[in-house]
Amino acid sequence: MTFPLNWRVALLGLLLTTSAAYAADSRPTSSPAAPSAHVITERPGHAGIASANFHATEAGHEVLAKGGNAFDAAIAVAATLSVVEPESSGIGGGFMAVLHRASDGREVFIDARETAPAAVNAKDYLNKDGTPNRDTALNGPLSAGIPGEAAGLAWLSTHYGKLPLKESLAPAVRIARDGFKPDGRLVNAISERAEDIRRWPASAAKYLPDGKPPVVGEVWRDPDQARTLELLGEHGFDGFYRGEVGKKLVDAVRAAGGNWTAKDLESYQVKERTPIVVNYRGYRVVTAPPASSGGVAVAEILNILSGYDLTKLDTVHRTHLVIEAMRRAFRDHNDYLGDPDFVKMPMDMLLSPYYAAGLRQTILMDKATPSSMLPVSAGTDPGMHTTHFSIIDKDGNIASITQTVNYTMGSTFVAAGTGVLLNDEMDDFALVPNKPNVYGLLGSDANAPAPGKRMLSSMTPSIVFGADRVGVIGSPGGSTIITQVLEGILAFIDGKDAAGIAGQKRFHHQYMPDRVDVESGTFDAATTEGLTRMGHTLKERSSWGFMNVVTWDLKNNKLDAASDPRRESGLGKVQ
Ligand code: DON
Repeated sequence: MTFPLNWRVALLGLLLTTSAAYAADSRPTSSPAAPSAHVITERPGHAGIASANFHATEAGHEVLAKGGNAFDAAIAVAATLSVVEPESSGIGGGFMAVLHRASDGREVFIDARETAPAAVNAKDYLNKDGTPNRDTALNGPLSAGIPGEAAGLAWLSTHYGKLPLKESLAPAVRIARDGFKPDGRLVNAISERAEDIRRWPASAAKYLPDGKPPVVGEVWRDPDQARTLELLGEHGFDGFYRGEVGKKLVDAVRAAGGNWTAKDLESYQVKERTPIVVNYRGYRVVTAPPASSGGVAVAEILNILSGYDLTKLDTVHRTHLVIEAMRRAFRDHNDYLGDPDFVKMPMDMLLSPYYAAGLRQTILMDKATPSSMLPVSAGTDPGMHTTHFSIIDKDGNIASITQTVNYTMGSTFVAAGTGVLLNDEMDDFALVPNKPNVYGLLGSDANAPAPGKRMLSSMTPSIVFGADRVGVIGSPGGSTIITQVLEGILAFIDGKDAAGIAGQKRFHHQYMPDRVDVESGTFDAATTEGLTRMGHTLKERSSWGFMNVVTWDLKNNKLDAASDPRRESGLGKVQ
């Protein structure tokens, strides 16, 4: 692969000349190599779940009460979200998870990300004149990757759960069959996407019965999805990827102009990967490796920041350094990262404290570095769809899981007779090199589509281990996932509780466009003025991810679970 930026060459030269100076330093280290097991002997004795939906949190606790562990509960939460929040995630999509198993300290990353079908054809995402076709990238069957969610749930059950899959899926099946009362968010999402939903008869029949979205507070049922979840529970992987459901998925996709085959579904594989581990200020952050870009970026940012004592700096300088670290990490994201099964990535370099030290040398204390060495992309302000949930069970098992169908209501395409709303994850590939996707992210060859390849994700489910505290953190938010999780990790390390972390105001920089997106109320006037004087362009952004956090105080075995107040406080529950 190519490392295209001239100034990176210069930077590497600088890195080589400065690395000796840093070699003797007690810099934090991060490594993609297998982390040592992190056994915790304490046991909470009770469980905490924080998700974006009341039904999902309750479903998780229901499964725990039946004798399930955190991983069984995760299946219940994930599947229930598929039913009650199809706008964000579901069995037509995928997930990424960081797990910690209490019995042996095993830390593992579960990659249930979608893959490109074997017949993927880059031309399908171009108009005749060669310009990007945003419709095929975001709507209908061509925008959908082969789903990983159902395989991932079956995998969680077989390899980490205590209960049969069927029992863990039971609450979701019941809610889909008996019905639930949709909230305003679901109804708004359907309304927002109604024009596209109408293009596909099975989608319209499900989401626009009588031509209109369901009504807030009126019971709404999803019998097709209930049946699909039931088959998944009875037959595991085969219940979704083969047989009745598999056939219906392929038939529906092909009839509407897509290119999936039965082989694409049958050959889908969940991948277990070694998480990225980075040590920062005495905390051990366990986070997502590629095919997510999130953990690499978080590690790079933390490694850069570890060279400063942020606690001694005023807010303006502290924020400036965090922004500059974000800028540099996102630049690498755009150039290097993709599916590790397809792309050779310079992971040793990206995760090296010496590389971070070289990058640090390029940061001026009082001046923003313009990102203008690359063409500027048009960043967008998408609605926040995708969802994160965090679980710690009474035995200390931990699940940090982010799942998605990508954009609001995914592809808007429901495969007839399955109740499965397909994702539009193909847009997370760099379908057209260096043209922004819906989150304004640019990409290169490393993230070009190819048969069976996973598209790069920003999902960053993470667990932070301190000497006497553990934090389970993650968020939706497209490209902003990475910076929001980073800020959550920093807040946890600064001692904030679960509600403080979830509620904390946020900011974001992703290299291109060269601006700092800021949530209203994040900075006071003096900080805004100070950052502007340094050359940062600040722009208010209204949509931020819903972060759901569980913390564990090891000194008194107290759990704390908090949901994001931007959405609804009180969706975290300890019992
Ligand atoms: O995997 C990813 O990075 C995206 N598909 C996530 C999309 C997302 O977070 C949407 N929310 N704004």
